[in-house]
Amino acid sequence: MEKRIYTDKQEVAEHFARYFASLAQDSAVVHVALSGGSTPKVVFDFMAEQFGTVIDWTKVRFYWGDERCVPPDHVESNYKMTMDHLLSKVAVSSTQVFRIKGERDPEEEAKAYGALLDTELPKANGIPQFDLVILGMGDDGHTASIFPHEIGLWHADENCKVAVHPDSGQRRITINGKIINNAKNVAFLVTGSSKSEKVREIMHREAGFEAYPAALVSPESGNLLWFLDQDAAQGISAST
Ligand code: 6PG
Repeated sequence: MEKRIYTDKQEVAEHFARYFASLAQDSAVVHVALSGGSTPKVVFDFMAEQFGTVIDWTKVRFYWGDERCVPPDHVESNYKMTMDHLLSKVAVSSTQVFRIKGERDPEEEAKAYGALLDTELPKANGIPQFDLVILGMGDDGHTASIFPHEIGLWHADENCKVAVHPDSGQRRITINGKIINNAKNVAFLVTGSSKSEKVREIMHREAGFEAYPAALVSPESGNLLWFLDQDAAQGISAST
C-alpha cells in the first residue's frame, strides 16, 4: 500500500489524473469502477479539462462501484454526477458506459449488475476483475456503499448487494469486497479533515480499525494507492 499526500483536492485531482492517464496508456482496455461523493467531482472536472485530449477515452469502460437507488437524472445519482463532470465532456460513447440502474427494483438490479460484471469483465480467481477500482471513504469509514453497520456485505458471495444508508435509509447498490480486492489496482481518493481520524485509525491499525469497511480494502495485487490531501492525512505521515 502506498500513500501519496498532496496539498489540497486540486493537487490530488492533478496527480490522480496523471496516474489514470499512465494506466490507460499502458492498457488496451481499462475497465474502471467509479465512486461517487464530492472528491471525484473535482477529479473528474480536472480530468475532463486537462486530460480531455491526453487520454484515449475510447479504451475506457466505465462502471460504478456503487450507486444510489434513484433515477439517473436525480441530483444524488452517481451516474448523473459522472455525466455532468466527466462523461459529457470527453469523447465517450454510450456503449462504453455501464451504469447501475438506480431506478429499478434494488434487489433485481443488484442481481442484474452482478451478472453484467460477470459478462463484461475478465475474470481472475473466478471473480470479475477491474483494472482499477476508484474508492472514496466516508467520515464513518464506509467505502463504496458498504457501511460499518452492514460490514457483512463486504463478505457477500454475490457480486453486488443492496445496502442501506445508516442515516437516510436510502438504498444503494454496491459491489462486494471480493471484487474490490480482486482488482488489478485500487485507488482511494480521500480529502478533507473530517476523514483524518479514520485515516489515522486505519493507517496506524488502531484498536477496532477492522470495523471500518475501508480498512478491509487490501487488493491481492498489492496495488493499493491512497491519494490524500493534507487535511485528511493530518494524523499520519507519508512514511507511516
Ligand atoms: C457515494 C460514494 C461514497 C463516497 C464517500 C466519500 O456513493 O457516496 O461512493 O462511498 O466515496 O462517501 O465521499 P466524499 O468524496 O464526498 O468524501
